[in-house]
Amino acid sequence: MTKYKPIRKAVFPVAGLGTRFIPATKVVPKEMIPIAGKPLIQHAYEEAKAAGIEEFIFITGRSKEMIEEHFDHQPELMQTLEARGKTDMLKKVVDSQMEEGSLFLTRQAKPLGLGHAVWCARKLVGDEPFAVILVDDIIQSKRGGIGQLIDAYEETGGNIVAVMDVPRKETSKYGIIDTKGGQEDKLVQIDGLVEKPRPENAPSTLSIIGRYILQPEIFQYLEAFETGTGGEIQLTDSMARLIGKQPFHGLRFEGQRYDCGSRLGFLEANIALSLDDPEIHDDVEKILKHHIDADTSKSNKTGKPYVISNK
Ligand code: G1P
Repeated sequence: MTKYKPIRKAVFPVAGLGTRFIPATKVVPKEMIPIAGKPLIQHAYEEAKAAGIEEFIFITGRSKEMIEEHFDHQPELMQTLEARGKTDMLKKVVDSQMEEGSLFLTRQAKPLGLGHAVWCARKLVGDEPFAVILVDDIIQSKRGGIGQLIDAYEETGGNIVAVMDVPRKETSKYGIIDTKGGQEDKLVQIDGLVEKPRPENAPSTLSIIGRYILQPEIFQYLEAFETGTGGEIQLTDSMARLIGKQPFHGLRFEGQRYDCGSRLGFLEANIALSLDDPEIHDDVEKILKHHIDADTSKSNKTGKPYVISNK
């Protein structure tokens, strides 16, 4: 038993428009686009579930109903698969279904920033520590991103964010931490936080990746609705207010992170997670090899066709 209140709830802000993926996201929410056969949101859900999360709080918005449908019971589909004896497919349907009463929804009516999105969950979170999972960041590791944060929280309590080193020229894409912790330390104490500083102003190159454990006192600061970088209500700014009042740590997590908010990161995640899938690993390797080996000066369409097994 941990001496700190357990982390039972996770908040998933999923109201974003996904503009970088237009036209794919004109109708389909970005969170429903698949990475290696599973919608982005399902990767985040599975990570949270494996870490022991019991309540899943989605901050949704207009045109995002498909996300809640995805986790619902699908009786017609299940009956059909059962009648056809497709037990492997049936398992995939069951695995992506949420236990009744564990999905909670609230809406963010206006895109006012991540801090505002999290504030929208205040009533559902109540007076207990909680996790925040940004679906765009996929962390490929055995224990999962949020699981590693929960393990660290059981030692330290307070607030914890996942951090990793980024090239200095990229600090303006992230929340950056200020710390006296060493280069090799897994867990560092956070002395300051800045949202998306320019490289020359960044206190370090240790950036926040989308996994957080936060104490409910964060809501007192979020409700001030102060705008920060980009004119948005930033979660980072309210987190900064907790420093000195409560323990606040950054965890250099283990595993590979993919930024699925960018087209290349999305593509990389698809390749990496598909290579990790024993069902298709060999063929994915064959496809990649074929395209790398192909003489790019000639059109692939005129080359000799090659065949892969059809899974
Ligand atoms: C958000 C946070 C930022 C964090 C990043 C991680 O930014 O505001 O502090 O470093 O997620 O992915 P966004 O990527 O939503 O602009």
